This record gives sequence, structure tokens and C-alpha cells, in this order.
Amino acid sequence: MGPINLSDYERLAKERIEPEAWDYYAGGSEDEVTLRENRAAFERIQLRPRMLVNVSTCEVQTEILCDQINLPVMIAPTALHMLAHTEGECATARAAGRAGTIMVASTTSTRTLEEIAAAGQETNARLWFQLYVHTYKQAEQLVQRAIAAGYRAIVLTIDAPRLGTRERDLRNQFRIPDKNIANIPEEERADTFVSLTWESLTWLRSLTTLPILVKGVMTAEDAILATAAGVDGIIVSNHGGRQLDGVPATIEVLAEVVEAVSGQCDVYLDGGIRRGTDVLKALALGAKAVFIGRPVLWGLAVNGEEGVLDVLEILRRELEHAMALSGHPTLASLNRSLLRFPRHSF
Ligand code: FNR
Repeated sequence: MGPINLSDYERLAKERIEPEAWDYYAGGSEDEVTLRENRAAFERIQLRPRMLVNVSTCEVQTEILCDQINLPVMIAPTALHMLAHTEGECATARAAGRAGTIMVASTTSTRTLEEIAAAGQETNARLWFQLYVHTYKQAEQLVQRAIAAGYRAIVLTIDAPRLGTRERDLRNQFRIPDKNIANIPEEERADTFVSLTWESLTWLRSLTTLPILVKGVMTAEDAILATAAGVDGIIVSNHGGRQLDGVPATIEVLAEVVEAVSGQCDVYLDGGIRRGTDVLKALALGAKAVFIGRPVLWGLAVNGEEGVLDVLEILRRELEHAMALSGHPTLASLNRSLLRFPRHSF
């Protein structure tokens, strides 16, 4: 029997990916406490299902920045898809279109953003572009290219003034294979980033009229600064446990961010989403939708475009099923009364 859940994809992917690449994908920073917490925190939250509700149809479609998507699960930006599959990000983009969701393409992609856009067009995929700022000039060019190629939003990653210490990669002497960073010409490649501040959002806003989202907010304080800066969306993220180790799971800080934002823009979450019930929990705590990172790479490694599509379909089915069993036939009906937090205050 083929894979029936995302853990099956993880196990199969590990068999197919080179060990050093596997460690790069799977690893977190330092002791990987945050990486583990992203999962453990979801498992601690329990559900309070309601009975005798008409759940003959459960609707999982939603609208994100004026775009209708088929499920409230989108594809997080992850680097180096060609370590999982020869078609790399192009296969991922086609799968996003077929699943009817949005893919965020990483600055550190192994196919150019134009190639990814062209592949995405084949299946009508909606794409956003994730921006790392190595230099201002290079970032301005990337944004112009993303606009020209039809990307619909810019996601500025704000939790990486420098890269987290990923000790698995140090031990493996893993270096991002240079020839694979397709978006940036060889002479411009750098391991360092510009040290961005909240004022940098004024600079970014001056470059484009596209919606701007910030990825990496983990506190109410920063959520307030982000809304004051006029962002169009906030992604609660700890970079999949790959930046500052010791920060909480994203699901544990979601409520404080949602409260601080108080409806001024949409709030999204990534980190540790592996089941439909995880999506349910995040939406019940106020996320508009979630993103998945590693599971997409697993799907890609196991079966390319079809694998990514299947990973998304599994989550869509699991979410729809969880809504039926918990008595919530619409996403709008999800709220905190669905959740129970044993021995834990959120
Ligand atoms: C990432 N992430 C990431 N984020 C980003 O803004 N730009 C990037 O290039 C990358 N690259 C990247 C590579 C790999 C291998 C991983 C695992 C992650 C972080 C990513 O967008 C997301 O925040 C996490 O992956 C979400 O957690 P899960 O779903 O992987 O648990």
C-alpha cells in the first residue's frame, strides 16, 4: 500500500534522499528544542467536538488576499527543491496549481523564479515570492523580476538577520550547492544578509504595489509593529525550528499574535503542521490558513509533482473529516471553544 499520511511520506522520503540533504531538510538549529516543540505543542492540544450538527457537507475552501483557494493550506518557501527531485520547484508549482492552492517560491530556489512561474502557469498556480535581502540592489532586482513574472505577493522573511546554527549541516560539512542557487548570479552570492529593521518595510513598499507579508513574527509586540507598518499579512513562524532555538512552538504564540493584530490583517501560521487536525487547531486559534514546509519536500522526493499533490490532498481530506467529526461544517465556525489545553495555559 502507498503512503496514506504525511508520516508515511516522511519515512519514504528519507529512504530516497541523500543523507546530507536529508539532514539539511529535517534539521533544526542547535538542540532542536523548538523543532520538536512545533510538533509536541500540537499534540498537547485536545479537541472538544460538538455532536448532532449537520455535517453532510464540510467546506474547506477559503479566500486569501482576494484569491479563492481549495484548502486553507499553502506551500511555505523552502530552499533547494532539486535535492528532492530533478524538476525541483517547477514540479512543486504545478502541484500547487492542481491542488488549487498558493505556493511561496523561495529566493534560494534551485530553479529560477521565471521557470517556476512558467511551470505554475501550466496548472494555473498562484505564486508568491519569498524575499531574502542579501543586498538591497539584488533584492530590488528580485522584486522587479517577481512582479514581471506574475507573482502575486512578496513574503519578507524577517527572522533571519543571519542563519541559525544547524549543527547537522556543520557536522556533515553541508554546503548549499552553489550551482543550484538559480535566482542569484554566481558573483552576487553571499551567506550574509542585510540587517533589516521595521523601517525596511517602507523601502520594500516603495518597490511594489503587491501585497507584502512578513514571515517570522513570534510576539504580540512585533505583530503590532507589523500592522503599524501596514503589512497585508503576518506569518507566525519560527522557520521550522531552524533559527533561534528555544522559542516556543508557533501554535503556542498564535493566540497572542491574533489578539494583537485584532483583525487589521490576516494571520497565518507555519511549523509542524502534519495532520488535518493540526490545521483545525490553528484555524480555531485564529489563523486564516497555514503553510507546510517539509511535508512538501517529502512528497516531492517520493513522487515529484504527484507526491506534492497527494500530500496536499491528504491534508484536505483529513481536515474535511476532522470538521465533520467535530461538528464544524464551515471554516468560519471554528473557534477556541473547539480546543482544550490540559495543564497548559495559552
Ligand atoms: C525552510 N524555510 C525557509 N523559509 C524562508 O523564508 N526561506 C527559505 O528559503 C526557507 N528554506 C527552508 C528550507 C528547508 C529545508 C526548511 C525545512 C525550511 C522555513 C519554511 O518556510 C517554514 O517556515 C517551515 O518549514 C515550516 O515548518 P514545517 O512545516 O517544515 O514544520
